[in-house]
Amino acid sequence: MKLGINIDHVATLRQSRQIHYPDPVVAALLSEHAGCDSIVAHLREDRRHINQRDVELLNVVLGIPFNLEMSINKQIVAIAMKVRPEKVTLVPEKRKELTTEGGLNLTLHYRRVKTAIEKLASRDIEVSLFIDPVRSQIDKAKSLGVRTIELNTGKYSESKTVGTQKRELEKIKKAVQYAHNKGFFVAVGHGLEYENVRPLTKIKGIQEFNIGHAIVSRSVFVGIVEAAREMISLIDPQRKIKKRNISILYDK
Ligand code: PXP
Repeated sequence: MKLGINIDHVATLRQSRQIHYPDPVVAALLSEHAGCDSIVAHLREDRRHINQRDVELLNVVLGIPFNLEMSINKQIVAIAMKVRPEKVTLVPEKRKELTTEGGLNLTLHYRRVKTAIEKLASRDIEVSLFIDPVRSQIDKAKSLGVRTIELNTGKYSESKTVGTQKRELEKIKKAVQYAHNKGFFVAVGHGLEYENVRPLTKIKGIQEFNIGHAIVSRSVFVGIVEAAREMISLIDPQRKIKKRNISILYDK
């Protein structure tokens, strides 16, 4: 199982003072060193955290895949086509939301998503679609020709009762199986933390976890390398964590 770490909230902290630190690019390199498998960053239309400089730098300094999360907005698609990250995850975006709310509705936005996928594919960018864990959306993703989907765990994470959480977990399980049988690379993410991630690690077919807020929050106390490693050992206890060379952090 792979861990993609979302480093948006390092940038949130920087933007709260409109200064140059903490740098999400440094956080990304340290996460790579910690053994994370990919770096995720969301370039929002309002640039509330990650900005174009971050995206451009991330794309050149990382030794692991960079997964750019973004909306299907034309200007943002144009930036992605210029930067050419290894992967793009298309998500819905609303100005007023605190964080991504719900999966991308592929029924409602089918044509626009198709256009965005075609444009990105023309620049050899792999596209993943962030969708709710329901069959109709998985079927639509299949007809759009993508190989990767990320199932939204938001409802599961936000469950207020044990009963709701169980039901949401069941929905995710069924959706993972369904998507896996259809040949998708299946990622999950949104609202996952060190406790609620555990039941998901038992689901066969999940190949990647994309987690941000909880790891960045934990890093305030233990540092980002330790916080990321704690999450890696939860989602993949067998993993021998390789130490990677991060001389880029020290070389002048
Ligand atoms: N995956 C997607 C598609 C997201 O939009 C987000 C939030 O930016 C995440 C994963 C990470 O969510 P969290 O910060 O709650 O772990």
